[in-house]
Amino acid sequence: MDLLIPDKVHDESRQGEALILEPVGKHNGRKLYIESYGCAMNFSDSEIVASILAEKGFETTADFNNADVVFINTCSIRENAEVRVRNRLKEFAGAKFKNPGMVVGVLGCMAERLKAKFLEEEKLVDVVVGPDAYRDLPNLIEQVDSGQRAVNVLLSREETYADISPVRLNSNGINAFVSIMRGCDNMCSFCVVPFTRGRERSRDAYSVVAECQALFDAGYREVTLLGQNVDSYKWTKPLPALSEGEGSEEANQKVSPLTSGGDLEGAGVVNFANLLEMVALVSPELRVRFSTSHPKDITDEVLYTIAKYENICNYIHLPVQSGNSRILDIMNRTYDRDWYINRIDAIRRIIPGCAISTDVITGFCTETEDEHNDTVSMMDYVKYDFAYMFKYSERPGTLAAKRYADDIPEEIKQKRLAQIVAKQQEYSFYRMQARIGMVEKVLIEGYSKKSDKDYCGRSDQNAMVIFPVSENYKPGQYVNVLVERTTSATLIGKIVG
Ligand code: 5AD
Ligand code: SF4
Repeated sequence: MDLLIPDKVHDESRQGEALILEPVGKHNGRKLYIESYGCAMNFSDSEIVASILAEKGFETTADFNNADVVFINTCSIRENAEVRVRNRLKEFAGAKFKNPGMVVGVLGCMAERLKAKFLEEEKLVDVVVGPDAYRDLPNLIEQVDSGQRAVNVLLSREETYADISPVRLNSNGINAFVSIMRGCDNMCSFCVVPFTRGRERSRDAYSVVAECQALFDAGYREVTLLGQNVDSYKWTKPLPALSEGEGSEEANQKVSPLTSGGDLEGAGVVNFANLLEMVALVSPELRVRFSTSHPKDITDEVLYTIAKYENICNYIHLPVQSGNSRILDIMNRTYDRDWYINRIDAIRRIIPGCAISTDVITGFCTETEDEHNDTVSMMDYVKYDFAYMFKYSERPGTLAAKRYADDIPEEIKQKRLAQIVAKQQEYSFYRMQARIGMVEKVLIEGYSKKSDKDYCGRSDQNAMVIFPVSENYKPGQYVNVLVERTTSATLIGKIVG
């Protein structure tokens, strides 16, 4: 899925992280342990799950050995993501042996993909719940308590959990994910997401803005708007009841929040550019990020909106997948090399200095050496700031699995991957080096991982910046940092005001 949160989406350091929160409702004496794998959407969904169960009085624990309910929120995007989850389930077996009353649940994409089969394959598992069925969790847990195993993998065309205010799990109180849509209608041939997360639907724009406002009021200073394909965000304000004789033509006109003073008077369609603007207007002190953009859908209107607001970060994650038009065609990406280059040129023209990252798949079905070299030359053209790079992993049920043989030998996939990883390291370093001597506006996130004498935070372009702590500044504040040196992943400098 495209929904990789640049650097947070595929933040390896967060994989398997257990999430903790305080109970909201009356404590029911039971403890929940929940850990998440995969993309940012999964981490965000775990916050929704925790919120639903906190309402029912569950407390959370960071130790699954102590838990009454153990949930694992899973990813199916590549085979190794699933292998990891299976291994983790084996680790839960010991705890369940000691405490047979423990409820073990599998949530998310793997639950949706395997459905009731999971219960046959993994005797340990009591509950299997797909991404659109989390409201049913309290009932499903009751069902298990009464001695049955429980499954709900119904996908929905409407569910956006818009009314559930997610509890923030393990939050630093500064940045938060805000889900703006669910599902994906794109059907890229390699991708399992349309099958596991269902049809695309956009969340009520007002509820998105209200959530961002509440986060800002609670001291948060950065939101990342999440969707598999944010550029196809489209929400139509429900029509007021029409009196007889009134047509709906007018009601269907597009209303920009700008022309309506940020308010959606009457009916109107809110697209992604409009939504970005509405969130940017919450406060100039609230940074806005988003993920993931799709090359076929990212419009100049979105780019101009990013350019217009200082607090919309100059950073776009634009997965290319391949630099070759034939491969893009059989991947069903619905754009070709020239189209992608046109979008890169538009970003460079409209938002000079914008950082760009990407996702690449090597060794897709039938990919020749020359076609692979087109991906390498695309990397030379764009000089990405950052990239997530993967070997093609065939996923059961996808269009590619049905239509094309997974015919590139493992060693060749590996060799091509190593080549692009090395290339990307060069360009990441090149992009970092270009910042030396520049002053970056950094939102302080906390102490650096290595030392409490240093703060860390991100630049507008999403680079990690490390600099000595100053008593005058606290996490959650913005500082200007002069960049003095870099590694290939981090800018290092000092505060200059
Ligand atoms: N094999 C390898 N990589 C994949 N991705 C999605 N499906 C597959 C697959 N079957 C990658 C794409 C996508 C990212 C989230 O994961 O690059 O953008
Ligand atoms: Fe992203 Fe394509 Fe998968 Fe949708 S189908 S999640 S756009 S890779």
